[in-house]
Amino acid sequence: MPNTSHIRNALVALTLVALSTAACARDTTSSGSEATDTGTVTIACGATEQWCAAMAKGFEQANNGVKANFVRLSSGEALARITAGKTNPEFDVWHGGPADGYAAAAEQALLEPYRSPNAAAIPDQFKDAGGHWTGVYAGAIGFCSNTKVLAEKGLKAPQSWQDLLNPALAKNVAIAHPSTSGTAYTALWTQVTLAGGNQDTALQYMRKLHPNVLQYTKSGTGPAQMVARGEVAVGVLFAHDCVAAKEEGFKDLEITFPSESTGYEVGGLGLIKGARNPVTAKKYIDWALTAPAQEIGATVKAYQVPTNPAAKRAPQVVDLTSVRLVNYDVLQAGAAKKALTARFDAEVAQAPKS
Ligand code: F6P
Repeated sequence: MPNTSHIRNALVALTLVALSTAACARDTTSSGSEATDTGTVTIACGATEQWCAAMAKGFEQANNGVKANFVRLSSGEALARITAGKTNPEFDVWHGGPADGYAAAAEQALLEPYRSPNAAAIPDQFKDAGGHWTGVYAGAIGFCSNTKVLAEKGLKAPQSWQDLLNPALAKNVAIAHPSTSGTAYTALWTQVTLAGGNQDTALQYMRKLHPNVLQYTKSGTGPAQMVARGEVAVGVLFAHDCVAAKEEGFKDLEITFPSESTGYEVGGLGLIKGARNPVTAKKYIDWALTAPAQEIGATVKAYQVPTNPAAKRAPQVVDLTSVRLVNYDVLQAGAAKKALTARFDAEVAQAPKS
């Protein structure tokens, strides 16, 4: 599992590359095989619906004759569905969503190690040492503010996690729920990290924030739409999702990052254990790691940082080098996910019903 300060350094290195411009594991335990593979890959997709669709189409175009289906699922939902399908998997690949979900899945033996030959191009810091997942993008948690709504309250965009607790923001913050959303879990684990690993202190912060939260959405991108429509003043979400909302024409949005430092995701990509179509699944993974595949995101307003240093970066991609990042330990975050989200349900707020 990657050392997190190395991930931070790698984010910096990736940015520098962008500015200036493994061998295959054997398929031993998948229940599918070359003989049973139908040439169709079914993807549990944690990226935006548009990005998932563009990736499925891009894969079909790049590989004559293959088919790709996807279901868009938030991180917690994907993990639940993959767990439910442990003995009879409905998916072949899990693509997108923060890597801590993949770490949690690997702990439960839900992922099949696969080291794509194309993973050699991805810096080690974005890959699981055990080969359970390879990172395809990175992004940081920020605050997405509607400056018009804030101005009506005489407020400026929050500059810190403490600013977010301002009583003047009562019922004016949107954040997703960490049981369903990988974005919200990243924000929650950020609090754990800022509290030196103390989960009680992190939950205490979330309880203090609770009176300011109008709604816990199911998906991590939900708050961007709420802020854009002026339903709340501030959303806590991945900064790239706020950039996307701005690009959709909501010009009153402003992105700020907490001065105490913030958490970030490495978006994962992994092979489901027992996948029915392991050959096509591996083909998809190989393709998704290439630079051309990683350049598809920006064509559908997905402005995460690509992990392949050769992928061209759109100007809208958030420059993470100027953002103070916590040491986000993917392995620890993944191991704590089940119990910590259960505590959030019990001690802060119930998960939204579908
Ligand atoms: O695709 C947008 C995005 O923010 C990704 O960067 C992230 O991995 C994913 O959504 C998380 O979604 P959710 O919070 O719904 O699990």
